[in-house]
Amino acid sequence: MPEALWGGRFTSGPADAMAALSVSTHFDWRLARYDIAGSRAHANVLHKAKLLTDGELAGMLTALDQLAADVASGAFTPAPEDEDVHTALERGLIERAGAELGGKLRAGRSRNDQVATLFRMFLRDAARTVVLGVADIVDALLHQVDRHPAAIMPGRTHLQHAQPVLLAHHLLAHVQALLRDVDRLRDWDRRTAVSPYGSGALAGSSLGLDPDAVAKELGFDAAVANSIDGVASRDFAAEMAFCLAMLGVNLSRIAEEVIIWTTAEFRYATLDDAWATGSSIMPQKKNPDVAELTRGKSGRLIGNLTGLLAVLKAQPLAYNRDLQEDKEPLFDSVDQLTLLLPAIAGMLGTLRFDTARLAELAPAGFTLATDIAEWLVRQGVPFRVAHEAAGECVRIAEARGVGLDELTDEELAGVHPALSPEVRDVLTVDGSVSSRDAEGGTAPTRVAEQRARLDEVLTDLRDW
Ligand code: ARG
Repeated sequence: MPEALWGGRFTSGPADAMAALSVSTHFDWRLARYDIAGSRAHANVLHKAKLLTDGELAGMLTALDQLAADVASGAFTPAPEDEDVHTALERGLIERAGAELGGKLRAGRSRNDQVATLFRMFLRDAARTVVLGVADIVDALLHQVDRHPAAIMPGRTHLQHAQPVLLAHHLLAHVQALLRDVDRLRDWDRRTAVSPYGSGALAGSSLGLDPDAVAKELGFDAAVANSIDGVASRDFAAEMAFCLAMLGVNLSRIAEEVIIWTTAEFRYATLDDAWATGSSIMPQKKNPDVAELTRGKSGRLIGNLTGLLAVLKAQPLAYNRDLQEDKEPLFDSVDQLTLLLPAIAGMLGTLRFDTARLAELAPAGFTLATDIAEWLVRQGVPFRVAHEAAGECVRIAEARGVGLDELTDEELAGVHPALSPEVRDVLTVDGSVSSRDAEGGTAPTRVAEQRARLDEVLTDLRDW
């Protein structure tokens, strides 16, 4: 029967309910390969500190290699009595290296510094996987941008028609948000690239081990500056949970638009059959389930963040067993995004926009009223007066059931003496969009510049 790592001072084993509560292998087993990598690095510093002979090091590394292969193939798995991934792997090591040699590896380390290190390693890898998934979504959006460089749509505020904008400009707004999500993860990684290994239980090691060497071997920039902080801090996990929740929220905003755009009322776009689902009772249905699951899962990601923050709140230093609750929320956020990101990329890349309908709707709701006001400003009319005049044009046009461009010369002049027939030059959606040509604006030239800058950004992001 496997033994706990702490039996010496106890006269009995744990009660069944105690053991059932304590066990974590059903979720922390996914840290196994990181634990073995940590063990290799730890064996190397034990050897460097002359606590393992050359022969012992070689034997230890061989046993760890065998263990890694058996873990990868599934030949070695945790036993029901193994408390956690560390316990199970020590058992596996001892089974392969013998109790004498296998029992030497635990010197100078604790599960507290082990788990804090492994969790960072897992999350740093996961961040890279998430970033690649986001890159595919950015790709899908850029594909749509390139397909529709000139399409004009109604831009909205308060979900009401506001001003015409390029569809490409609108899609690139989502791209910008996603690129910030990526940037946030990369910035997070810089802070997370320090290794707690060597912190021991909390006070550091007395055995002359080299935490920096372990850190470097495990892909970190350095060892933590403070062993207590090393084992006790989980802000790296909370911050990652935030980065993932924020990503989820940004994705849910795209998702909500897809849901709206594909309704019979909007008809801006149609979902590809491969990225939609039907109804078991209503034969006509084509449902935007990918978008809805995105919206739903974003709530779950927020829950994972707030749940973890609640676990961390008010824990005294250093390690407390509460911290075992840190892993499942992050694993879940990563798992949900792993499912979600490719589906969102597929849905967005295959969405078919009805650009004729977008163009037809772009001027509806008097979206060119601001253009009248700004035209008057260019004639020297104060904006306050120009705003009033443009508003009056809307009132007249609405009462007559016509567009702003259909107001008569007399009606225009009656509203304001400066409103000459030339104002009609800006009363087309193309004229309106092209006129917004300041940096970041919706004019096609500016949008093309914005788009052109993104190829390099995307390459850099995939190279991370
Ligand atoms: N399984 C624990 C965790 O995930 C690590 C073990 C630390 N346990 C202990 N009794 N000090 O946090």
